[in-house]
Amino acid sequence: MAVEDGDTREEITALRDDVVRVRIGRNGAMPEDASWAVLPEARQSIVAVVPISSETSVGFRTKSLSVEISKADLKMTVRDVAGKVLQRDALPINFKGHSFQISKVMPLDEHYFGLGDKTGPLDRREEAFSLWNTDAYRFQESTDPLYKAIPYFMTYRAGIALGVFLDNTWRTSFDFGKTNDGIYSFGAEDGPLDYYILYGPAPKQVVETYAWLTGKPPLPPLWSLGYQQSRFSYVPQARVLEVAERLRKDRIPADAIYLDIGFQEKNRPFSVDRERFPDFTGMLKQLKQENFRIVAITDLHIAKLPNLSYLPYDSGIAGDHFVKNPDGSIYTGKVWPGPSVFPDFTRQQTRVWWGTLYRGFHEQGIEGFWNDMNEPSIFDSPTKTMPVDVVHRIDELGFVTRTATHAEIHDVYGMENSRATYEGLKSLDPEMRPFVLTRATYAGGQRYAATWTGDNSSSWNHLRMTTFMLKNLGLSGFAFAGADAGGYAGTPASDLLTKWMEIAAFQPIDRDHTEEGTGDQEPWVGGKEQEDIRRKFIETRYRLMPYLYTLAEESSRTGMPMERPLFLEYPDAASDGHPLDLDLPASGEFLLGHDLIVAPPPSPEELDRYVAEFPTNHWYNFWTGEELFNVHASALHEGQSTPAAPLTASLQPDPQTVPVFVRGGAMLPMAPLVESTNETPQGPLTLRVYVGDDCQGSLYLDDGKTTAFQRGEFLRMHFGCEQKGNTLSINISPHEGSYKPWWTKIQVEVYGGQPNLSRVQINGKSLAMRPASSAGSLSFQIDDNGSGADLVLQ
Ligand code: NOJ
Repeated sequence: MAVEDGDTREEITALRDDVVRVRIGRNGAMPEDASWAVLPEARQSIVAVVPISSETSVGFRTKSLSVEISKADLKMTVRDVAGKVLQRDALPINFKGHSFQISKVMPLDEHYFGLGDKTGPLDRREEAFSLWNTDAYRFQESTDPLYKAIPYFMTYRAGIALGVFLDNTWRTSFDFGKTNDGIYSFGAEDGPLDYYILYGPAPKQVVETYAWLTGKPPLPPLWSLGYQQSRFSYVPQARVLEVAERLRKDRIPADAIYLDIGFQEKNRPFSVDRERFPDFTGMLKQLKQENFRIVAITDLHIAKLPNLSYLPYDSGIAGDHFVKNPDGSIYTGKVWPGPSVFPDFTRQQTRVWWGTLYRGFHEQGIEGFWNDMNEPSIFDSPTKTMPVDVVHRIDELGFVTRTATHAEIHDVYGMENSRATYEGLKSLDPEMRPFVLTRATYAGGQRYAATWTGDNSSSWNHLRMTTFMLKNLGLSGFAFAGADAGGYAGTPASDLLTKWMEIAAFQPIDRDHTEEGTGDQEPWVGGKEQEDIRRKFIETRYRLMPYLYTLAEESSRTGMPMERPLFLEYPDAASDGHPLDLDLPASGEFLLGHDLIVAPPPSPEELDRYVAEFPTNHWYNFWTGEELFNVHASALHEGQSTPAAPLTASLQPDPQTVPVFVRGGAMLPMAPLVESTNETPQGPLTLRVYVGDDCQGSLYLDDGKTTAFQRGEFLRMHFGCEQKGNTLSINISPHEGSYKPWWTKIQVEVYGGQPNLSRVQINGKSLAMRPASSAGSLSFQIDDNGSGADLVLQ
């Protein structure tokens, strides 16, 4: 649909019944129809609509929505099929010079999430933000802007969710009622007015639709879900080997060690300091034998070193790959290596060239790469980044081939850097699944890299903020994300490091990292007692690896984050439909997948009893297997279908542990302990059955490394259970896919339920072995030959 008013033209398209795109052209021209974020197949899709018009408005209806534009002032209203207003313009669009601002009515009970990992409260309501990728060293709770620009948010009101994505790469701004009561607004200083509205109504649908629009994260290599050890910087070579050896000697499971900038010669990307690392290749070999993966930093600033046989510079100059000043000279800025030049990542041929720089490290067996400083951070510029008039070139399928100022490219520069790395590694080895970690990114960057929250601090408040930041990042498309465990700036006290490691063990990326010059921060620091606690948590992560990897695969298929706010899974938890996460008692909690609630105190340093809140009425203690509570419908007052208020539990904080709860009805696959994901677990798969309603679970497995899963070499299993009277039935589905698992037996552990165990049958035959019962559970082993099993416990 198109509406014209003077030389302003508004085009509204239904890409799907539940997705609407709004574009406005000024001065008689529509903006270029191109995007760094939106997938071409999504952008070009379209559904038929039914026109609706009245005397005062024009519009259309799809199967899910109606959109109307008032003839008088072009204000737009979006409704659901029942006529309920989902979103309404509060003011006509405000154009000022090149800038624009869109204002929407902000209902009193609406909440706002997303915008990446912006700090502050989980809910963006009454906050305002600017999106301009910034090296925010030692950011604090009110620091803005930060490293990433993800101009996407979710509105959530009384159980109904809507996504809004402003596809504009210039400096954008978002104000959720901070300036104007009752109005939220978003806009940009320049560039296209082009935004998308994604209708739920369930928040999970919005997450999936955003992934449909901007892409899903690729399935990560299994090892990247293991424990990662980092610092700025492990040098020299002997220190790297010493840390690796200590991890193994102390039996702290670990998969990755990071090489930060100190491993390079004079901080020059793609070089190695041969004095500090006299036998780099030998070191890599040894680490590989010890089942460690290396993640090497490869910053984007290329040292400006003419005539010194520095290949990244020489080949970049030869191929004309660096960004330029307006006068045509190459732009130079100072970063870690001194004067540096910057690849023009918005050119496809430059990204291909960048990818070739990885050949050497790739051939030496390095499997992970870290793209840091890519806002880009520049030390000697007053703005700490490139001047806005620096000239980039766009040479990219779908775009007009043209130049663009840094003001337009700045917020996508980091994403295109990580894209160049990801695609470069893929072309070096199409079978491999690369692990790329980026600091700066834009919407859609999840297709290329995982991310972390940048330079946080070793403080309790930063640990508390991490939960909000990762929840909002997850809602913004980034399923694989972490924060520097222990904090980057400063040295954590032992109890803080311990608590951080306890919580990080349940987050998508578990990486301990700290700044140059701080005290040691490895799991053993502070003595054996602390180390034992930290080890226990890392071990728990490894035992949960089948569950974690199943979640990672779900993320890659649907875009669903691994770490989730409660309201994403349980939007109906509160009777008024508000997101439970906003209640103080639930504010420290997060979900790992659908079935685990991690519930540290709202302020993780506090030692007074606290109250935790639960979205449904049946939860088990993960550590003990005991039922925390199980409020059956029969226990409710007459006429009540759910408890009046979310159920709560009073908990005693304990420095040695963190409460974790499992949904009644969950079926959790777990593995025997290994010291690295490269080891084959020895023994049976454990299937923990937490008897309850909606009893189900699943498992996904493959080789963890290659793309063979795309050819059917994976394993998928579904589990179900049902308790009827004294009979508990458990179903294990036949194996799907051709991947052969490491187990031949399944250890079934049943928690809750009331089978009196006079009889256990498998596929109709009585079980030879009597189930053992201990501490609230009973367990027995069955063979798993891949054809599935029906178990009946009576
Ligand atoms: C800044 C990054 O945020 C940090 O993680 C890294 O250690 C330093 N750069 C040095 O590379």
